[in-house]
Amino acid sequence: MKRENAKKQLCVALVFNLQRAHATHGRNYLETEYDSEDVILGIKDALELSGHKVILIEANRNAVENIKTNSKNIDIVFNIAEGLRGEARESHVPCMLEMLGIPYTGSGPITMAITLDKARTKEILLQHGVKTPEYQVFNSANDRIRQDLRFPLIVKPIAEGSSIGISAESVVQNETALRQQADSIIRTYRQPALVERFLTGREFTVGILGNENPRILPIIEICLDKYEHSKLAFTLENKFIVDKDENSCVPKNLSLKLRNRIREAALQTYKALNCRDFSRIDIRCDENNIPNVLEVNPLPGLNPKIEYISYFVKAARLGGLGYNEMVNEVLNAALKRHGIDAGMRAHEFAKEVQAE
Ligand SMILES: Nc1ncnc2c1ncn2[C@@H]1O[C@H](COP(=O)(O)OP(=O)(O)O)[C@@H](O)[C@H]1O
Ligand SMILES: [Mg+2]
Repeated sequence: MKRENAKKQLCVALVFNLQRAHATHGRNYLETEYDSEDVILGIKDALELSGHKVILIEANRNAVENIKTNSKNIDIVFNIAEGLRGEARESHVPCMLEMLGIPYTGSGPITMAITLDKARTKEILLQHGVKTPEYQVFNSANDRIRQDLRFPLIVKPIAEGSSIGISAESVVQNETALRQQADSIIRTYRQPALVERFLTGREFTVGILGNENPRILPIIEICLDKYEHSKLAFTLENKFIVDKDENSCVPKNLSLKLRNRIREAALQTYKALNCRDFSRIDIRCDENNIPNVLEVNPLPGLNPKIEYISYFVKAARLGGLGYNEMVNEVLNAALKRHGIDAGMRAHEFAKEVQAE
């Protein structure tokens, strides 16, 4: 037993961006997406418990050198890096690893870059017949408004996550408010504003794990009713409200038909965007109870602490996968995809690839 473990022990480099500041709207906002020490140590512990050796590499400007220095030892990277800056920031680490021939967990550069741009994501979804709210990209607050867009609308930054820029003011009822909010988003976040039809139905999020036959984790419901700050949308403020009741996000009275439609929309999205190993898909129903996809999170939050809202972790737990098992399933999905799950040292595999 011991020998088998030793043979399968891999050196996993956990590549991350560390959160140093607690962020608010428009201030240090990029760090909102970064991971706290809890997450980094949680993943490290989970991998070590499976017998792997873990090295930590911060995805800062020295990451290329640090990964190159260690590349002979690294079998695989466990990537949770959100990126430092720029319109393709979540794709930087995957791009770099692709260039160096080092296997890594999670989606590739194309998926990472596209899903960071919510409008590009929607174009692909529409091409694949997946429902997503009608929308318009505002490059300037004075852009002419599409005739077929009906109020209420929601205004969001085109390329942020974690509800950055989503507040009680995001939902607008008329043109003046729309232009004001678009102006504020464009100025604050220095990027176009995505204006979407505001859907009033139930909101869900769906975690998916694996590749060939991906496992759809139990559907999570985001019950906006319980939030004082805004009952309309899952704002940044709402996201920080602690809810220790695990069952509060288990959907009640969900018909089999709706459940299947949500699962189908999530799976189609996962495949359309070429997601790998794991992702979380945000969905909201329209007034006819039809699930629409809002966005795709190829790097869902993985906080092990129950009081933090990491819906992927909660969904896994509801599906019977503890935190450590979930982390190792992500790793194993990547190892299998790279064909390095049979005890073969991954860097030997990488060398073979490079020699080809
Ligand atoms: N078109 C929409 N209709 C209704 N609610 C929306 C819509 N778009 C976003 N929201 C609300 O805003 C929240 C954040 O939007 P989302 O697109 O998921 O961005 P983020 O990347 O910040 O999570 C959603 O969870 C939802 O509550
Ligand atoms: Mg979201």
